[in-house]
Amino acid sequence: MCGIVGYIGKREAAPVLLDGLKRLEYRGYDSAGIAILKEGAINVAKVVGRVKQLAESDRMSTLQGTTGIAHTRWATHGKPSERNAHPHGDCTSTIFVVHNGIIENYKELKRNLEEEGHTFKSETDTEVVAHLVEKFKKEGNDFETSVKKSLKLVKGAYAILVMTTSEPATLIAARLSSPLRIGMGNDEFIVASDPSAILNYTQEILTLKDEEVAVLKDGEFTITSLNGDRVIDREVEKIDWDMEQAEKGGFAHFMLKEIFEQPETIENSLRGRVIVDEGLAKLGGFNAVKDELREIERLTIVACGTAYYAGQVGEYMIEEYAELPVETCIASEFRYRKPILTPKKDAVLVLSQSGETADTLAAVSEAREKGVLSLGIVNVTGSTIAQNTDAGIYNHAGPEIGVASTKVFVSQLTVLSLLALFFGRQRHMSLTMGKRIAEELLKIPDHVRTILTMNDSILEIAKRYVNYSDFYFLGRKYNYPIALEGALKLKEISYIHAEGGSSGELKHGPIAMIDPNFPSIFICPKDSVYEKNLSNMEEVKARQGKIIAIGTEGDDELGKIADDVILIPKTLEMLTPILSVIPLQFFAYHAAVLKGKDVDKPRNLAKSVTVE
Ligand code: AGP
Ligand code: GLU
Repeated sequence: MCGIVGYIGKREAAPVLLDGLKRLEYRGYDSAGIAILKEGAINVAKVVGRVKQLAESDRMSTLQGTTGIAHTRWATHGKPSERNAHPHGDCTSTIFVVHNGIIENYKELKRNLEEEGHTFKSETDTEVVAHLVEKFKKEGNDFETSVKKSLKLVKGAYAILVMTTSEPATLIAARLSSPLRIGMGNDEFIVASDPSAILNYTQEILTLKDEEVAVLKDGEFTITSLNGDRVIDREVEKIDWDMEQAEKGGFAHFMLKEIFEQPETIENSLRGRVIVDEGLAKLGGFNAVKDELREIERLTIVACGTAYYAGQVGEYMIEEYAELPVETCIASEFRYRKPILTPKKDAVLVLSQSGETADTLAAVSEAREKGVLSLGIVNVTGSTIAQNTDAGIYNHAGPEIGVASTKVFVSQLTVLSLLALFFGRQRHMSLTMGKRIAEELLKIPDHVRTILTMNDSILEIAKRYVNYSDFYFLGRKYNYPIALEGALKLKEISYIHAEGGSSGELKHGPIAMIDPNFPSIFICPKDSVYEKNLSNMEEVKARQGKIIAIGTEGDDELGKIADDVILIPKTLEMLTPILSVIPLQFFAYHAAVLKGKDVDKPRNLAKSVTVE
């Protein structure tokens, strides 16, 4: 999920590729590698760590030639190591690939290839592609046909580059659900997952579409569809972004880019994990502890900040659908409490984007100390928490650069929904209910796409409210933690004072603050607590409090009470948080921009909090 670069042309490939990798560094990665073809051989260099180390490695002096591929890896399958760093080769080391994305069915493909005698060198999903191309070439197919036949067998997501010694003047590029651009001009091609790696050389850039395969040869390119030989005529665009714009994909900030990435983030978190017909969630990372999980009597979720709020939503989901008692704790509290944990009966589940948060890590140690199963939902592969838990699920959300978490939060909610389905089906949940959740989950990315179209109208709302100095964020049940998250987002990046709370709690004190200068944002979808929430909204209105309401499409009642209304698509009650948080992310973002704040790097905050 990080970055790939390829070069084919007349100049030395290595400097172009290294420069491209450096441009991709901002995305974060764990290892890097490069392969260059010369005189019938492909030479490879790989390092765990920075591109600078790769550039300085002794191996680089052997890498000469005018065709090459390079990669910065953000591991999804197999820990960050030299062995797992790309490029990956076939058995004969004559075919090499770099890949961004996830090959969902790699286990099955790998098993078949091993049975046919192929030997694998890495733990990655990617390596299967090199061996598949080898197999089809051995069967007499030409290079392009072999790549196409291989990719037809692959399920999942990929941006991929392949080269082989047998056709040294050719580089093949293909994509499915992962970005890939081809820069061209002067009889050379620079292919990369991100224009920032290309713009130093050319602004003439073609964006490859899903299931398209590009063959770059002798300064010419042809694009055909994966499932046929139809030649596709594609426009080359002129991209005149500066480097900073290029890194942000044309968005003004990483945070906005990450908000807009959320449909794909959710798709990546769900990929290969939902079996609709059986109403099941397939969580490979939990396979080894599946039977132990069936027996646990209580789950304690531990996390910090935004991840903690995701955990609170998870608590509601799992208790309702799996009938498993859940308690959610803030990690910095958990470590100094005396948590009562009993081996076999309890399990501790930690949530962490970075996988390095010191307080959360301490909870893992506490669980281990007490002999209790420790589980993780972590975004950064190979991170300390990922390594220290007994079993875990990766978010597969890709690197999150904005300090304020957005896409990883929706990914955490997505994975927790899968977990509720998983625990539910292990216990009392019916097949019908399981199928219903699975079907609704798969619709979520499109619902998110609908909400993204509301960006401009939320900007207009933010303009009207940005000069207030205090806000309440209020919700009930599944959307109570979303109220907390909405308030945190606004505070973190705009420095406007905001408090999150439960709508039902208002009357027990907080309502004293309400006056015309203290607006409230109510999250009030049509769910099982809708009427109650509406009454709480009336209480605020009666005290002249301004209200922004987030509700369900088709709701005409909210507009009668609230000053401004944002309507989101209808889904299962348990899944509403994944949708309702997005308008709050936009609101916080626009408020911060309108106030001229540094959205991606808010004051006093760090992306990864490795101290107590
Ligand atoms: C989110 O916007 C935050 N900056 C912060 O609350 C964060 O979620 C928290 O520090 C936990 O981080 P982690 O997920 O990397 O463990
Ligand atoms: N799934 C591949 C791996 O783990 C590619 C990851 C990436 O996109 O960097 O190696």
